[in-house]
Amino acid sequence: MIVLEAKNLTKVYGGRGKVATRALNNLSLQVQKGEFLGIMGPSGSGKTTLLNLLATIDRPTSGTVAIEGTDVSQLRGEQLALFRRRRLGFVFQDYNLLDSLTLGENIALPLVLDRVPVRIIKERLRMLAGQLGIGDILHKYPYEVSGGQQQRAAAARAIIHEPAVILADEPTGNLDSRSAKDLMETLVMLNNMAGVTIVMVTHDAFAASYCRRIQFIRDGQIYTEIRRGDSREAFFQQILDVLALMGGGRDEPLANRG
Ligand SMILES: Nc1ncnc2c1ncn2[C@@H]1O[C@H](COP(=O)(O)OP(=O)(O)O)[C@@H](O)[C@H]1O
Ligand SMILES: [Mg+2]
Repeated sequence: MIVLEAKNLTKVYGGRGKVATRALNNLSLQVQKGEFLGIMGPSGSGKTTLLNLLATIDRPTSGTVAIEGTDVSQLRGEQLALFRRRRLGFVFQDYNLLDSLTLGENIALPLVLDRVPVRIIKERLRMLAGQLGIGDILHKYPYEVSGGQQQRAAAARAIIHEPAVILADEPTGNLDSRSAKDLMETLVMLNNMAGVTIVMVTHDAFAASYCRRIQFIRDGQIYTEIRRGDSREAFFQQILDVLALMGGGRDEPLANRG
């Protein structure tokens, strides 16, 4: 089943006196339910632009984004805000937990905002926190727990409302290698245990090697796609090979292209 479908996305920034940048050029992609898709490409290739369009944070110049069959480009105002809150989950690199709420309150927030009955919130919270190994620290505040535990709480918050898809832009960007590994293992756990669909943008080959499929983009277009076999290590090597083949972004000096 297709959960997310982007068709012929083009995004042009600027114009009207400024120099126009074509950040995406007629790009299409489909994501099946339960997939863990990575999006890679050189700096400036359009990754963040693409993710912002999928996340309904920005609108395409032309083309459409459908999530669970809803054409999100047709949604406006309150409808759009509700759709984003109910059907999308986000994982940010700096966790974005609220300091004044406990971990449990942070995780439950999407359901509280949606006025889900307390009994159901408590049930889901207990189950999810248990699965992620943070069941006994839900009463603690973010500053009282480790970075890894904060990250798990942020991941729990991203899926507690059972979104159609979780979107992550460079989630390991600011993390040391230990925390990056933890985060990727948490995402894989969510993907496996709950069948959550994940789309992650990254320029980090190590983080990407946890994905099941990777689409490489360059100059706003799909360059190629690879799928993982059984070995993450082999996939990692394959990713490095494609990156080497693809070379740098268009801003990169020719001397670096090899
Ligand atoms: N708000 C913006 N206004 C103008 N140009 C932008 C804007 N955002 C991105 N761009 C340009 O669009 C291209 C793609 O950027 P981006 O999607 O951020 O790439 P990536 O995330 O792959 O590094 C780049 O050339 C960038 O300079
Ligand atoms: Mg980016």
